[in-house]
Formats: sequence, C-alpha cells, structure tokens
Amino acid sequence: MNVALFGATGKTGRYLIDEALRRGFDVTVFARSGSSFTNSRVRVVRGDLTDHALLREAVRSSDAVISALGPTSLQHPKGRPITRATEAIISAMKQENVQRLIAVSTGTAADSGDGFDWKIRLPALLIRYVMRSTNDDIQGVAQAVRASELEWTTVRVAFLKNRPESRNLNVGLYGHTRHSWTVSREDVATFMFDQISRGEFVHQAPGISSREL
Ligand SMILES: NC(=O)c1ccc[n+]([C@@H]2O[C@H](COP(=O)([O-])OP(=O)(O)OC[C@H]3O[C@@H](n4cnc5c(N)ncnc54)[C@H](OP(=O)(O)O)[C@@H]3O)[C@@H](O)[C@H]2O)c1
Repeated sequence: MNVALFGATGKTGRYLIDEALRRGFDVTVFARSGSSFTNSRVRVVRGDLTDHALLREAVRSSDAVISALGPTSLQHPKGRPITRATEAIISAMKQENVQRLIAVSTGTAADSGDGFDWKIRLPALLIRYVMRSTNDDIQGVAQAVRASELEWTTVRVAFLKNRPESRNLNVGLYGHTRHSWTVSREDVATFMFDQISRGEFVHQAPGISSREL
C-alpha cells in the first residue's frame, strides 16, 4: 500500500508515520519548504502546498491520502491557507485518480446530523468569535472535503494528547454519541489508518474521543 501524508510534520504526524510504517506501507510525507522535517524511513516531497505539480507528484500512485493539516497556533494567518492547500490536494488527487481521503477536523466543523453537546458548542463558540481566522479555515477545509466528490472521511478529534493509545474510543456524531474531552494522538493515527480499508465512515464526519477520560 502507498499512502501520502499531509500535516505529518507535526505532533500527530509522528504517530501517523509510525502507524503507516508499522503496517508496512510505503509512505510519502509532504513537508513545507521551510520545514526542518527529516525522516530517512519515508519519501519526503518538499515545497509549497499550492504547487500543483509537486502535489501531484506526492499523491501519485497512492491508495489513500491522509491529512492532519490544520490551524494550531493562535496566530493562524488570514486567507484560509489550509483550505487552499486542501483544495489543491483534492485537485491533485482527482488528476492522479486517487479516491480515498481521510482528513482531521474538529467538532467546530458541525455536521448536519449533530445534536447538542455543550463540550463541543462552547469551544466552537469561543473559536468562532475569538479565533476568526482559525475558524474560517476549519470551516473551509470541512466544506472543501465534503464538496470533493472523493471517498472522504473527516475525523473530528477531541483535544489531542500525547498518551499511549487506548483502542477504546467513542465514535460518532456529537449530541448522539457520548464524547469525552480528549483523545490520544496515537489513537487518532490508528483510527485514521483503519479507515483506509473500512467503508463504514465514507462520506461521514465522526467525532472521536477516548472512552474513559
Ligand atoms: N491540538 C488539539 O487539541 C486539536 C484539537 C482538534 C483538532 N486539531 C487538529 O488536529 C491536527 C493535528 O494537530 P497537531 O497537534 O498534531 O498539530 P501540529 O503539530 O501543529 O501540526 C499541524 C500540521 O499542520 C501544518 N500547518 C499548520 N499551520 C499551517 C499553515 N498555515 N499552512 C500550512 N500548513 C500548516 C503543520 O506544518 P508545519 O510542520 O510545516 O508547521 C503541521 O504539519 C491539526 O489539523 C489541528 O488543527 C487539534
């Protein structure tokens, strides 16, 4: 299996790469031009996330694309850079005939099937009014993925923690599934890779959180 990873230069990315290698996949990691990311166990394509030719090169022959791209700093730039990158990745996937896209998102990007869950609604309100550029990009990515006509899944994660995987997750829409506040990055990586071969959540946006915490 070949997998192309975006956003794998960050904290969740470390677990995504480990999970891919553990499964024996051939891995391509797209790293931004200024990134200090190196890893001798994976193929690295380095450049701008809007460089179409380079994006096509990164996703070529992939069985799936996994993205953990997302705003993480309080100073997230205006102009929705992650949305633009996601749209460019989707376009490259279509041109290279790659169908499966699994992308990280958050509860802030609501699904029409969600019910009320204050654990999601409160942080979402805070992000919407205090971190406008972050919110714009989160919503933009979710819309781009939904509109993509690919076999997409968005994995809406709780607050990420660097703790060992539990393999014991709440999975489902907010307001219908009882969710906790946090999830381990390792669990997120395992869940995302499980989706490559599972059709259960194609065209869906499940929330995931740890069961007992
Ligand atoms: N932390 C949480 O509790 C939490 C909660 C819900 C959702 N999420 C989402 O989960 C994902 C993984 O989180 P994490 O903690 O592993 O994040 P992280 O370590 O900050 O990694 C984020 C990734 O996105 C890339 N990125 C960030 N800003 C970018 C920009 N303006 N343009 C292009 N690429 C950019 C980073 O690239 P560089 O390495 O080049 O900077 C990195 O590869 C993110 O999408 C985040 O939004 C996080």
